[in-house]
Formats: sequence, structure tokens, C-alpha cells
Amino acid sequence: MGISMNKHLKPLSFPNECPEQYIPLDHEPMFSAKKHLSLEKPESIYSLKNLGYSEEEIVNCESSFGFCSAFRILSEEGVKVMKHICERIYNNRNESAGTGANRLGSYARGAGYRSKFIRDFCDSPELAKHLSTIAKVTLGRHSVPAVACGINYAPDDITKAVDTWHVDSVSFDVVMMMSNPLLIKGGEFQIFNGTKEEGRDLLGISGEEGVDASLPQERITSIPFPSAGYGFLQQGSMIFHRACRLLEKADRTTMIPSFEILPRSAQDDTNSINMSGWSDPGICPELARHEISRASARLEELLEQVSLKDHPSDLVRKIDRAVNKLISFKNNLEESCK
Ligand SMILES: [Fe+2]
Repeated sequence: MGISMNKHLKPLSFPNECPEQYIPLDHEPMFSAKKHLSLEKPESIYSLKNLGYSEEEIVNCESSFGFCSAFRILSEEGVKVMKHICERIYNNRNESAGTGANRLGSYARGAGYRSKFIRDFCDSPELAKHLSTIAKVTLGRHSVPAVACGINYAPDDITKAVDTWHVDSVSFDVVMMMSNPLLIKGGEFQIFNGTKEEGRDLLGISGEEGVDASLPQERITSIPFPSAGYGFLQQGSMIFHRACRLLEKADRTTMIPSFEILPRSAQDDTNSINMSGWSDPGICPELARHEISRASARLEELLEQVSLKDHPSDLVRKIDRAVNKLISFKNNLEESCK
């Protein structure tokens, strides 16, 4: 393995700046993996094949991992600290909450800008290593801060779903319960037992954004959370999922740390074009950093592979593979600036 490969096994560092809308918390405890994590193994793991994806579809994915049952992530102490931090950030959550422009009711994306504790938790190599073992693929903290550390709160209006049927714009994410699940009526996290195409066809929608409608009950699995601090991992870009509406007003807070496949030269299903339409401050530069980092890792790898015997058509194919995601992202930005 060359030096460049090793370098690309580390997640891209977070930006040095912070959007001015985000207020960093003061007086936070320091995150310690030893003290705040209590990583356990999930009891069951389901593959994309279990959900009905074909061999051809699976080959085109980053991994054949589908999702798993919830397992313990935070220690008792970790839950206590994290819960308090989520409560403190609630008053500085994203502004677009409740405007109807977003699928989610109430959330704080980019929570790592507000909390160093959350940032260090999401960035912890212990967590990434544990998740990599579960998914059987090398995962690192996602390089886009908006999704690397997200918090979802219950919407103020409980007649609204916490989150409607959708797939994610990033391929791997953890959904970690931060509230006491015994005190929540409704609000179940559900997964459709089928492919995303089937799910969309049944609902009559296209694209990845959600719709608040019903799917046949017998094809839905709810993921139980035994207590706060438990979470599960999913290849969210391939799993059609939602969080149901609450039946009674309750605290239902989840943390959603996202991950990307490493090395950075590997295939990456992050949907940067979709995410560039989000209203989060700094989102376009965050996505640009991500796409530049992935493209430059692929280019560096390509530089080591180019042979004087390469046919021009091979070169075109290889160069395209290295840069086409970055170029499409750039073209889309250009269009939306007009
Ligand atoms: Fe999701």
C-alpha cells in the first residue's frame, strides 16, 4: 500500500470555520471513548439480499450490508452527557424547522459545530472501527459536517410524522435513541422489507425525498430500541425507512451520525447534488470539500496506475471515473447559481 492510500484511510478533517448561525456550547465535558462509549454487537444483521435486491444491484452498492438491530453505543454516563447537550442545542436548532420546506420536522444538522463533545463522539476512531466490523467494510466519519453529526427532535405538531418514507443522501448512518423509549407512544422507526424502488412504486413517488403515506403493514419492520444510548446502523441510501408520528406529545430525540466508505478513493454514494439544495449554512462548501477530497484521492490513485500502454479510451474511462462526480456537482452548482 502506497503512502497516498494510507492517507486516504483517514476521514477528511472538519473545516476550521463555523457558520455564524451556529452557537458553540460552553462548559462541555471532554468526550472520552473509555468513559462515554459502551460498544456492543447487534443481535441480528440483514443484508441487501434479505431485502430483495438482486446480485447486480448489490454489486453496484458500496457494500451488501443492509441494516442491523439496535445495539448499545453509549455508556450510562455517555447518555447523561449527550442527552443534556442535545437539550442545550434545541434552542439553536436549524431555522428551517417547521416551515414545510424540509422533510424533517425539527432538527439540528451540523451539531458538531455547536458541540465539541458531539464532534469528538462522531469522530471517534473506536466508533468507526466498531461500525466497520459490523458492516464488514471500512467506515469513517462522514466529511460533510451537516450530516456527520445530526440530531432529530420530535416536531412540535405531533400530527406530523417525525420523518416520512425516504432513503438517505448518505450511504451509512446510525440512528441512536437519546430519549427513554418506554415513555414514547408511537414514533416507531420503521423499515420497508423490500427494495427502495418497490417502496416508491407502492407509494407512487420518485426520487429520494419522502412522503407521509402508508405501506402494507405486513411488509414493515419496526426497530426496537431497548433504551437510550442504543442505536442501529443502516445503509440508508438503500433502505426505505421512516419515523412514525407520535401518538402523544413526548420527548423523542435521536442522534444521526453519518459515515463514508474509506479509503477516500472508493466508491461513494453520497448524494451531494440533492444535499446542495438543503438550506443549512455552509452546505455547498461542505459538499465541495467532500467531492474534492474523494476526487483527489481517486486522481492520486490513478496517477500511480497509469501505464504507457494505456489506450486513449481506457484513459478517458479512468479519468472520468475519478472526476465525474465532482464535475457533476460543479455543473449543478453552476446551474443553480444562474
Ligand atoms: Fe433517514
